[in-house]
Amino acid sequence: MSTANLSPLSAQWSMLSLADNDPFPAYEALREKGPVVWDPGMNCWLVLSYEHCKEVESDEGTYRIVVADAPPLSFEVKGGKPQLSSLLGDEHARMRRLYQKLLGPSQMPKYRDEHVVPVINDAIDRFADAGKAELSSQFSEVVPPRIMASMFGLPWRDDGLLADIEKWHRDIVSWIGMGYSGDEVTRKAKLASDQLNEVFRPLVLARRDLRGDDIISQIWTHAPEYYGPVGVDEVMAIVRDVELGAGETTSNAIANLFYLFLTNSEIRDAASNDQEDGLNRSVEETLRFLGSVQWRYRVANRDLTLGGAAVKKNDKLCLVHAAANRDAEHYGCPHSIDLERKSPADHLAFNVGPRVCLGMWLARLKMRESMKALMSRIPEVRLDPEKEAPHFRAFSHRSYGPLHVVF
Ligand code: HEM
Repeated sequence: MSTANLSPLSAQWSMLSLADNDPFPAYEALREKGPVVWDPGMNCWLVLSYEHCKEVESDEGTYRIVVADAPPLSFEVKGGKPQLSSLLGDEHARMRRLYQKLLGPSQMPKYRDEHVVPVINDAIDRFADAGKAELSSQFSEVVPPRIMASMFGLPWRDDGLLADIEKWHRDIVSWIGMGYSGDEVTRKAKLASDQLNEVFRPLVLARRDLRGDDIISQIWTHAPEYYGPVGVDEVMAIVRDVELGAGETTSNAIANLFYLFLTNSEIRDAASNDQEDGLNRSVEETLRFLGSVQWRYRVANRDLTLGGAAVKKNDKLCLVHAAANRDAEHYGCPHSIDLERKSPADHLAFNVGPRVCLGMWLARLKMRESMKALMSRIPEVRLDPEKEAPHFRAFSHRSYGPLHVVF
C-alpha cells in the first residue's frame, strides 16, 4: 500500500514516503507522537530528539552498531577485513588513534595546501570561463573524490578512473542499502570490490617498501605505533574504509553550503564579510540545518524504555540526526538560520560519543575552502532563474540540487 498521502500521525505512515521530498515538516509532525516513534515501513524506531539520539550513540553497551550483525561477506566486499566502523571495544579505540593521526587537525594545513586547494582550483578552472555551471555535477560531486584520490597518490585528474571508482562505490553502497541481500546487487558489489582492490593493492604494496608523502605511506609508517602491526590486508581495509566514507557525505555537505550561500542572505553576508568566524559559523549552521547524513542506525541489546517507547531486545533504532538537529527542546528558533548560536558546533551531523566522525576536520576544511574559492573566483555567482530550481534530493544522504548558476 502506498503511504505517500498519509499523515505522519497515521499508524501506517512511513519515512519511506519522504524520498526526494522535503522531510522537515514530517519530522516536526511526528514529534507530536513523541521523541521515539515506530515506523512500520522502515521496521524500526525513529529517534527524533537531540537528547535521545545523544543518549543512544554514547552508550555502546546498550546499543550496538548494525554492522556488528552484518554477514562476513560484508567485510570482504568493503575491503577484506573488519574496518574501523565495524570494530568494537579496545580494538576500535586503537584503530581510532591511528585514524586520528592520519586525519586529525594537525594534518589539515598540509592537506589544504597539497590536495584540497589544488583540486578545488582545478575544478573551478574547468568552468570559470563558461559564464554558467551546474555546481553539483561540476563541483561538489567531483571535488571530494578527487581530493581523496590525490591524498592516496592516485592520478586524480584521470576523469575516467575517478568515474569508475565512483560507480564501484555506488554499487557497494546500494548493496549495503539493500541490507546485504539481492543476487544481482550482491554480484555487482563483489565485482566492484574486486575492481577497487585492483586499483589500490599495487599502491599499497609499493608503499610498503618505498614510502612517499601520501596517506597510504602514512598508514604503513604510523600503524605500528598507534594501532599495532599491520599487513597488506589491514592496510587495504583502512584505505577502502576511508575511501568509502569520505565521498558522498562531503559532496552533499558542500552542495548544501553552496545552496544556502545562494539563497540565504545571512549566510552569504557572513561568509563573504568574515572568512574566519563568519564562514566557520556558516559551515556549522549548514551541518545543523540541512543534514547531509540524515540518520544512522543502532540495535538495542536488551528490552528497555526510551523516550516513553517500549523498545525490545534486537529492535533497530534509526537516529534521525537531521530531526534532532532541529529539536526545539535543544535549540532556539530551530528552523531558522542563526549564525549567533552560543555553541555553533553543538550539532549531531558528525555523531557524538565513541564513534564521532574522524573525517570531520577534513570535511569542514573542504567545505570552507570550497566556499572561499567560489567567493573569490566567481563573486557574482547566482542561481540561474531560467533553470530547474534546486530541491532537497535523495533519502538518507541528501543535498540540494541541481545547482544551476550563472555569473
Ligand atoms: C560532512 C561530511 C561528513 C559527515 C556528515 C559524516 C558523518 C559521519 C557520521 C554521522 C558518522 C558516525 C557513523 C555511526 O556511528 O554510525 C561518521 C563516522 C565516520 N566518518 Fe564521517 N562524515 C563526513 C565526512 C567524513 C570524511 C571526509 C571522512 C574521511 C576522510 C570520514 C570518516 C569517517 C570514519 C572513519 C567514521 C567512523 C568512526 C568510527 O566508527 O569510530 N567522514 N561520519
